[in-house]
Amino acid sequence: MKEKFLASIFAGLFMLCYAGCTQEGFVRKQAVCPTIPGASYVGDQSCLDCHEEVVAGFKKTIHGRIADFEVVGLSKGCESCHGPGSIHAEDEDPASIISFKEISKGQASAVCSQCHTSGTLMDWQGSEHSLSNVSCIDCHRAHSRTKRLLAQPEPKLCNDCHQDIRAKTLYPSHHPIREGKMVCSDCHQAHGSFVTNLKTEERLNDLCFECHSAKQGPFVFEHEPVVENCAICHDAHGTVANNLLIQNEPFLCLQCHQFHFHAGKISGTGPGLEPAAITRSITPTSRHSFRMAYTTKCTQCHSQVHGSDLPSQSVPSQGGALTR
Ligand code: HEC
Ligand code: HEC
Ligand code: HEC
Ligand code: HEC
Ligand code: HEC
Ligand code: HEC
Ligand code: HEC
Ligand code: HEC
Ligand code: HEC
Ligand code: HEC
Repeated sequence: MKEKFLASIFAGLFMLCYAGCTQEGFVRKQAVCPTIPGASYVGDQSCLDCHEEVVAGFKKTIHGRIADFEVVGLSKGCESCHGPGSIHAEDEDPASIISFKEISKGQASAVCSQCHTSGTLMDWQGSEHSLSNVSCIDCHRAHSRTKRLLAQPEPKLCNDCHQDIRAKTLYPSHHPIREGKMVCSDCHQAHGSFVTNLKTEERLNDLCFECHSAKQGPFVFEHEPVVENCAICHDAHGTVANNLLIQNEPFLCLQCHQFHFHAGKISGTGPGLEPAAITRSITPTSRHSFRMAYTTKCTQCHSQVHGSDLPSQSVPSQGGALTR
């Protein structure tokens, strides 16, 4: 009876292992679950004899509290990750049990993927981390009792490998990550799904709107780059310029717009004048305007850079439409 039971578990495990681990990836061959030839499942009670402390600690982890219905057809104790232990329980040889120190990173992920293939882990196989040989056990510690079994708390977990991003979060303008008010996974799904692992189904902007809904509009007068992609002007991790802007004004705006003098105060110049023409037409008044335009932020006049419903937000002594 017991043997039959174990055999069915083994068959179930094998099936799942087969489905979970031997599938050909889209990009490259996926690693397979390691096996222990000739070994059978003996149950946690046997491990207790020699690994008392580990077993006691394990009972307090989420995997130690799994109910049967959660893993139908699978072994749910020590052996669900470490493989069948009959041989090891006899010879006490670390080589006759699955040790995560010995197996490859891909194999380690395959062990976890026996059970974790749904939800956020559905896209794991094709994710940037998986394809870059980052494994579940780089970020999770199966025997820990930390939140989500994380190996380290965020952002340290991520920063240790992403030093360039860490450096940006130290710039003067940054999302409050280093203040502990936000974590990388507020914006990223480490298991990978969308482009650059962002937590959004489609567009980068949708992610930003979750917390900055005022920028969503719809506006009567939209600003094209804002509609297209917030990252054209902002770097979410950090910048030297204020407001997470990739460049200071007016240079930020001058990437796309031509320089112009203040309408109404200018002589012989107008909005959208080419730089060469500007130099040619400099007069005492326009020289003043020229300097003003470079030292004044464009947004001092064009204050609704993200879009507006007001067609004519006027400047003093001027009636023109500024918001657009
Ligand atoms: C009769 C004693 C005994 C039993 C029973 C036993 N082990 Fe071990 N196990 C050992 C010894 C001894 C080592 C080697 C310890 C060392 O190298 O530090 C070891 C090592 C291991 C390792 C490798 C640790 C490493 O350093 O990578 C794992 C994993 C492990 N055991 C899991 C289990 C599991 C799971 C069970 C139950 C199925 C089990 N053991 C049952 C004695 C036992
Ligand atoms: C969810 C998968 C999983 C389960 C279940 C599990 N382990 Fe582990 N075990 C691991 C991983 C992964 C490691 C490598 C270190 C880590 O990630 O914490 C490990 C490490 C170990 C080690 C090596 C010592 C160490 O801390 O590195 C021993 C011994 C061990 N496990 C025994 C057991 C025993 C005994 C049980 C059951 C009481 C068990 N494990 C249940 C995944 C698991
Ligand atoms: C035998 C099936 C099985 C295996 C193998 C397995 N897990 Fe789990 N794991 C579960 C179940 C069931 C839960 C609880 C339900 C859930 O959150 O999905 C869980 C929960 C978790 C959680 C969530 C913890 C929390 O606080 O919400 C993490 C993280 C996790 N597992 C990581 C791993 C890693 C890493 C491995 C491989 C070393 C692994 N699991 C192997 C079945 C498994
Ligand atoms: C690059 C780091 C990283 C890798 C690699 C990784 N995870 Fe996670 N995982 C996380 C973080 C961070 C969270 C917590 C997210 C949160 O708090 O919302 C998490 C959460 C989870 C959860 C909890 C439920 C959920 O979906 O959020 C499970 C289960 C889990 N991971 C399993 C795995 C398994 C299995 C693998 C390998 C196939 C894996 N993880 C690989 C970082 C990682
Ligand atoms: C406020 C949201 C947000 C937070 C918080 C955030 N990111 Fe990002 N991250 C993004 C966006 C948006 C992109 C894509 C940028 C693009 O497409 O131009 C990105 C891209 C990345 C990339 C891809 C390469 C690159 O240099 O752009 C990495 C790696 C990355 N983030 C890591 C992290 C890490 C590590 C943390 C935590 C320290 C973090 N991110 C926190 C929004 C965020
Ligand atoms: C063990 C090292 C390691 C850890 C830990 C790690 N990453 Fe990565 N991550 C990588 C590698 C390697 C890549 C592949 C591309 C690269 O080199 O940037 C990558 C890629 C990414 C990308 C996609 C970059 C792109 O160009 O599409 C994002 C986003 C990212 N990681 C975020 C995170 C977040 C968030 C965490 C923490 C939850 C994290 N990483 C933890 C190593 C790691
Ligand atoms: C999870 C919520 C969240 C998401 C998602 C988010 N932000 Fe933020 N953002 C914040 C918080 C919190 C602040 C700090 C507000 C404060 O200090 O008053 C902030 C501040 C900012 C600032 C002002 C920075 C400064 O120096 O004052 C800009 C610009 C910004 N976010 C742009 C973005 C962009 C672009 C995206 C999408 C890539 C985005 N945010 C996604 C929460 C978020
Ligand atoms: C054409 C460049 C540009 C684009 C694209 C852009 N912004 Fe901005 N953003 C700015 C400038 C300039 C500021 C400086 C303050 C101001 O003038 O509003 C700013 C400031 C901000 C601020 C902080 C100040 C405030 O008003 O709360 C947030 C948050 C913000 N932007 C979010 C977004 C989001 C979300 C998107 C995408 C929907 C986006 N931005 C796209 C140029 C841009
Ligand atoms: C990535 C390119 C790009 C950047 C950077 C950019 N814009 Fe624009 N802007 C556009 C486009 C495209 C339009 C719409 C084209 C048109 O109607 O002439 C536009 C329209 C405008 C208009 C309305 C013009 C009109 O004819 O109604 C104003 C005002 C404006 N932008 C100001 C700014 C300011 C201020 C900045 C800097 C904070 C800025 N833009 C940055 C691309 C950009
Ligand atoms: C002192 C106020 C002021 C400053 C500073 C300013 N503008 Fe203007 N801008 C105006 C006025 C006034 C108009 C004309 C509005 C109208 O005629 O409807 C205008 C028009 C525009 C237009 C529309 C041009 C067209 O052909 O219709 C764009 C684009 C523009 N400005 C971009 C910028 C950029 C980029 C900067 C920064 C280098 C900037 N502005 C600085 C006041 C200003």
